[in-house]
Amino acid sequence: MLATGLGIDTTFDDTSVSILRGKHEILANLTLSQYKDHEEFGGVVPERASRKHLEVIHLLIDEALKKADINFTGIDYIAVSNYPGLLGSLLVGLTVAKSLAYSLGCPIIGINHVEAHPYANVLEHGEMNFPILHLVVAGGHTLLMNARDHFDYEIIGSTVDDAAGECVDKVAKLFGFPMPGGPIVDKAAIEYSGYDYDFPRPLLNKNNHNFSFSGLKTAMMRFKENSMLFDSSDPKKTDKIDEIGPILASFFKSVTDVLIKKTFKAAEEHGLSNISVSGGLAASRKLRKEFEEESSRRAVKLYYPKSSLCTDNAAMVTCLAAHRFEAGLVDDLSLDAFPNLQ
Ligand code: KG4
Ligand code: ZN
Repeated sequence: MLATGLGIDTTFDDTSVSILRGKHEILANLTLSQYKDHEEFGGVVPERASRKHLEVIHLLIDEALKKADINFTGIDYIAVSNYPGLLGSLLVGLTVAKSLAYSLGCPIIGINHVEAHPYANVLEHGEMNFPILHLVVAGGHTLLMNARDHFDYEIIGSTVDDAAGECVDKVAKLFGFPMPGGPIVDKAAIEYSGYDYDFPRPLLNKNNHNFSFSGLKTAMMRFKENSMLFDSSDPKKTDKIDEIGPILASFFKSVTDVLIKKTFKAAEEHGLSNISVSGGLAASRKLRKEFEEESSRRAVKLYYPKSSLCTDNAAMVTCLAAHRFEAGLVDDLSLDAFPNLQ
């Protein structure tokens, strides 16, 4: 009989609960975003994020069980992201997960949230071929991982400063848009794709697989300061998308160029012909289109999930946990939470 897992993800500002049958069948995957709760502060407030997780987590679990049409006795293991993330937020998910595992008498499985992102592809396309290069482009991480098998991977590139998603959010904010900036920048990139202001493409020609996006963010700040389009005493002077659109589109071209060129270069150097892309920024239609075009030019097998599985969700966490459960890799109630990638 296939094992059924209940997974929880409260790493940052989304509360998500999923129920998975076997390794691929999503019975429920419910996510509540907190973006509106933090809007007035211009960024996520950690203390508020923890409280919001606490307010909704039990309701989400009840809803997920209803949606999956099972009760707790049908759950074989509990999965939870226990790193990386905001410590207070992680502890809400971890404490609820431990209470469930203890009262149900079933194993708990701690999951690295970043390692889970590529499993969005397993949910959508079935098992991926190994070896594979995973590009994870999330709000807090930009990583290239050379995966030889499940649970056996090496990080071969990461950002030395801001993550790509973080840079996109900050630049969107600079031009007056609320969090999350990704969807608005992506929309501009699709609608104004013909424009190309010459913004920097950081570390593009460096001889390693690392990324850096804070210089690009600074270049956008300088551009705005010096542009006649903007009035520093009234940042809203140019609030017409027709004027900002081409700027955001050109900015995003720099981001996608760097992500695509560095990913394919890393794949080539490591002899990898399978590539997976995942993480919130991968929900971008523009990024997807460019990855698809480049992969077909190079005869690379590309795994790219639908956008609802790119952004944070507990199904990807439960999917990785299902593979661990099958391999007998479970944890116990001494499991702890860690804010950083270990
Ligand atoms: O993976 P994720 O949901 O959270 C983290 O693990 O950090 O990623 C969040 C990032 C943010 O930068 C957000 O602006 C971006 O994903 N994002 C998008 C879209 N939806 C969210 N970027 C482009 N297009 C979208 N539709
Ligand atoms: Zn994430």
